[in-house]
Amino acid sequence: MLNFQVSPGGSLSGSIRVPGDKSMSHRSIILGSLAVGDTEISGFLEGEDSLCTLAAFRAMGVNIEHESGGHVLIRGQGLQSLQAPKEALYLGNSGTAMRLMVGVLAGQAFPSQLTGDASLSGRPMGRVINPLAQMGAVIDSAAEQRPPLNIQGRAAHESLKAITYTPPVVSAQIKSCLLLAGLYADGETTIIETGISRDHTERMLKGFGYEVKKDGMTTTIAGGGTLTGTRIDVPADVSSTAFFMVGALIAPGSDITLTHVGINPTRAGIIDILTMMGGDITLANEREVGGEPVADIRVRASELHGIDVPTHLVPVAIDEFPAIFVAAAVATGRTTVSDAAELRVKESDRIQVMVDALTAVGVSIEGRPDGAVVDGGPVRGGQVNSHGDHRPAMAMAMLALRAETPIVVTDCDNVSTSFPGFAELAANAGLGITVVNGEAN
Ligand code: S3P
Repeated sequence: MLNFQVSPGGSLSGSIRVPGDKSMSHRSIILGSLAVGDTEISGFLEGEDSLCTLAAFRAMGVNIEHESGGHVLIRGQGLQSLQAPKEALYLGNSGTAMRLMVGVLAGQAFPSQLTGDASLSGRPMGRVINPLAQMGAVIDSAAEQRPPLNIQGRAAHESLKAITYTPPVVSAQIKSCLLLAGLYADGETTIIETGISRDHTERMLKGFGYEVKKDGMTTTIAGGGTLTGTRIDVPADVSSTAFFMVGALIAPGSDITLTHVGINPTRAGIIDILTMMGGDITLANEREVGGEPVADIRVRASELHGIDVPTHLVPVAIDEFPAIFVAAAVATGRTTVSDAAELRVKESDRIQVMVDALTAVGVSIEGRPDGAVVDGGPVRGGQVNSHGDHRPAMAMAMLALRAETPIVVTDCDNVSTSFPGFAELAANAGLGITVVNGEAN
């Protein structure tokens, strides 16, 4: 079991590029594997989650060459080219991989099984099983619609049924699952969302030459077309930069530039929220790379103040709340987060994990069913448990920049699911972090 031991104080500086975007990395493998022709990916995230997706498509016969340095070449053979895997497809910690891939597998003529680690095995899958069942898929799951998922093969030449569906929660994973299943459906599949969720699937499908219609919150795809191989440059993951943004804002004297970051508006809510809190964040070199907006982000130490996080920003910053709670812990005044109940079903119950961790270092935080209330103040230091969740682990490590004594974060092995090399990069930027072998508390 790996722990982070982080000494108090210090500041962050320099210019760094964090690893590639996790959402886009998964999608690049999935769509490249379903396309006809070569797809060349650069900037691919070599984290455990996206590598599981890569291995899963290899196990279904897709020819994928992978060199270190984020270069991947997929020699795709089209929508109907996948072959039955010999074993269950293991997707590690990744809810995204499971929820997106079940959409693809629902359209195949062979049966398959999707499994994951202990965290993934506890996550709700009814949100994708139910609409896929309406499309005619037959998917068996463990109790309460949790993984493993067993997906029945379809009779030869039998398409899925196109549906129009309004997901019960705002979720890019549900939307993307249904868009992928929609590739195998007999007409137009339409998803009507009740809030904005990340749109990487739609943008990337267009990059593969596949039409997706957007009309406000309604997204429509017709089945039976062809994806054409393409080039994909995966930018740095804004969710991984979030830890450095918060660290630089809260540590006096910090001035850091995060380069080549994806700032798609359906992902970049963290920039709006931290700016509202008084953060000095400037974007430079804004450009479009492969259909996605990208920029360099400069962040300087700032006096933060608490805010009521606007609820419309919650889905577009959904993965950043561990970092936002850390910013709130040292801000002046009260920060309130609501309408964020989804945080309870992420890789961990992120409300409870952050309440316990921040309370352990003397921060005043009260959990609520759909969020939390944080009153900023001094941070003592101490030992906190990330419960195997990568994002609380990295967020709590950054809090040491403002702690009075060291912070030890336990159970940090899963940081490598999304951010391989986090500790080294953070240490180079100025965080007093060492990785030690230890026992969980
Ligand atoms: C993701 C969507 C989000 C996010 C997850 C990645 C994606 O989940 O939390 O880390 O790549 O589509 P939901 O769509 O369930 O909100």
